[in-house]
Amino acid sequence: MTAEPAELAALAIDIAQRVGAVALDGRRRGLTRVSTKSTSTDMVTEYDTLTEASIFAALREARPDDTIVGEEGASHVGSSGITWYVDPIDGTTNFLYDLPTWAVSIGAHDADGHGLVGVVHAPALGETFHATRGGGAFLNGSPIRCNNEVDLTRALVATGFNYSPANRVIQARRIPYIIDKIRDVRRFGAASLDMCFVACGRYDAYYEEHLFPWDISAGSVIATEAGCAIRNIDDLGNAPSAVLVSNPTLSDSIHELLISSNH
Ligand code: IPD
Ligand code: CA
Ligand code: CA
Repeated sequence: MTAEPAELAALAIDIAQRVGAVALDGRRRGLTRVSTKSTSTDMVTEYDTLTEASIFAALREARPDDTIVGEEGASHVGSSGITWYVDPIDGTTNFLYDLPTWAVSIGAHDADGHGLVGVVHAPALGETFHATRGGGAFLNGSPIRCNNEVDLTRALVATGFNYSPANRVIQARRIPYIIDKIRDVRRFGAASLDMCFVACGRYDAYYEEHLFPWDISAGSVIATEAGCAIRNIDDLGNAPSAVLVSNPTLSDSIHELLISSNH
């Protein structure tokens, strides 16, 4: 079963907007089932599981031969070579606290692992980011680009912290080494949106360690198509799946700065 990236994007936008509306409506009516996963601060609500189930069902119906990997356990191994990575609610802590920065994140990669399509829909912001490989990146249908050249000392840099207390202590220890060399630090709490915010120039860079494919699949397509450089920064040593997203001119200097924060 083949499909043009634009068709896959239209499908993912439709699904993300439909399930996002249900989750936003549910959040406004109030949550009833909230529990924890990997640690006491890693939360899961009824809308994480419900949203993932709805996305899984819709993708299975439209794309029965594709592989699907979801954060909350949804899984199907298909034969088409296309893999969908689903984070039903990225930014669950924000969702729980009724902060608006949470998103439905749906990305598709090809058989070589290259990004094909990314959709990040933030219902409480009324914003849908999307991109297709070679087709550009968009926010609510308008083209977006990352910021142009920025001096490191004036770079607004976002990051995030893992749920494991031991990991977040290592991550937090980097901050004193970087805070006086950049403009400031932001921690908004949704990796997919952090990548999109670099893509549309709301930050100059974003980095984080200990991410998962569903956190970054969609955002990586959007950031790449918006002109960002995305690099693996596993050489920081602390973490698998560490990512740095920035405009291309800032990438080396932020990478060096982060390496210098290894203590
Ligand atoms: C988390 C968010 C957060 C990031 C964590 C992620 P979740 O995802 O993206 O910003 O710092 O690393 O695990 O649990 O809200 O889907
Ligand atoms: Ca996530
Ligand atoms: Ca999630």
